[in-house]
Amino acid sequence: MTQFSCLESSIELGSIMESALPKLLTKTYGSSKKVILVDSNTNEQCLQILFTHLDGLENAEIIEIPAGEDNKTMEICFSIWEALSEMEFGRNDVLLCLGGGMICDLGGFAASIYKRGMHCIYIPTSLLAMVDASIGGKTGVDLGSFKNQLGTFTEPSHVFIDPSFLQTLPEKEKLNGLAEMLKHGLIDDAKHFEKLASISFEDLSDELIVESLHIKSKIVESDPKEKNQRKLLNFGHTVGHAIEGHFLNSDHKMDHGLAVAHGMLVEAKISMINGFLSDKDFDRIKSVLQKRFNIQTFTNEENMEFISIMLQDKKRVNGSRFTLLKGIGQAVFDVKVKDEVVMEALKVLQ
Ligand SMILES: NC(=O)c1ccc[n+]([C@@H]2O[C@H](COP(=O)([O-])OP(=O)(O)OC[C@H]3O[C@@H](n4cnc5c(N)ncnc54)[C@H](O)[C@@H]3O)[C@@H](O)[C@H]2O)c1
Ligand SMILES: [Zn+2]
Repeated sequence: MTQFSCLESSIELGSIMESALPKLLTKTYGSSKKVILVDSNTNEQCLQILFTHLDGLENAEIIEIPAGEDNKTMEICFSIWEALSEMEFGRNDVLLCLGGGMICDLGGFAASIYKRGMHCIYIPTSLLAMVDASIGGKTGVDLGSFKNQLGTFTEPSHVFIDPSFLQTLPEKEKLNGLAEMLKHGLIDDAKHFEKLASISFEDLSDELIVESLHIKSKIVESDPKEKNQRKLLNFGHTVGHAIEGHFLNSDHKMDHGLAVAHGMLVEAKISMINGFLSDKDFDRIKSVLQKRFNIQTFTNEENMEFISIMLQDKKRVNGSRFTLLKGIGQAVFDVKVKDEVVMEALKVLQ
């Protein structure tokens, strides 16, 4: 069992049966009402595991919402608040979020607002939620096509990470987590990156999940509200979001992890053009990303479209800049990059 804290959250990684959760539910929250938020998949694949192995949930209520990012909305959030209200939940009662990043972000948001903040515990079940979304306190819902437009910085009191939930997670979802883990290695820890470069998902150890978590945790603790250092975590995401956004309204959406893998490749190329990253390091990053992800090629027109989406994005955040690599395991944030350089770097995808 690995234990540490990040901001206001206590984090435990290991078998949930051996964690502090059973005691927490029967003692600390012994007299509190409990509700478990699940989506249709985690209801089917993960909920029974909790009931089978944990005391203290005998009388827990269940709120099930449909799976998928399209449901990370205010409408669904209202339905959660209405259900909590009907069941007469109070501030001292507990919401347990059992699911991926969608359930944690939405449930965390709902809990942070309900009665000015009720107790909230995350039990992340996707790799992405384990290494990324459950840490750092960002909660939120989407507003139309704007991701996480409404949200708060509110940490859950506890996060229980049990990698055995990953057994039922589809491979394609695991890739979304892997992309963020590789990003953690690229910005902070070359050894972590190399370990992930060739590992198969069967061999994904608790130790690797902990290493990734520690990197995210260290960065958010140094800058909880994303004024400086936390921007390091945006590596690959400026271009990645533009590519993801481009496919949003088409028939074939691109997964976040795959879009970020493309984004990391382009932003590594920008780092090289800027003279920050050696040709050798760039080639290594390119070969790892090409090996792990189905990197696609795009036309010149598509690349222009990515730039125009990035420009809209820049306007919104008042001149966003890039997080770039100075080497594998070393990054800098807030680097201004000209559009011509981005266009040049995008050719790596042609
Ligand atoms: N708060 C943050 O700091 C932060 C960071 C990164 C991402 N996010 C958010 O996280 C979300 C993406 O997270 P995600 O990739 O986990 O998506 P998700 O929660 O939609 O889960 C992906 C799919 O996997 C299913 N699933 C989850 N666990 C499963 C399991 N153990 N077995 C079988 N199926 C399972 C889900 O039902 C869903 O269909 C986005 O909304 C993103 O904005 C938040
Ligand atoms: Zn991401």
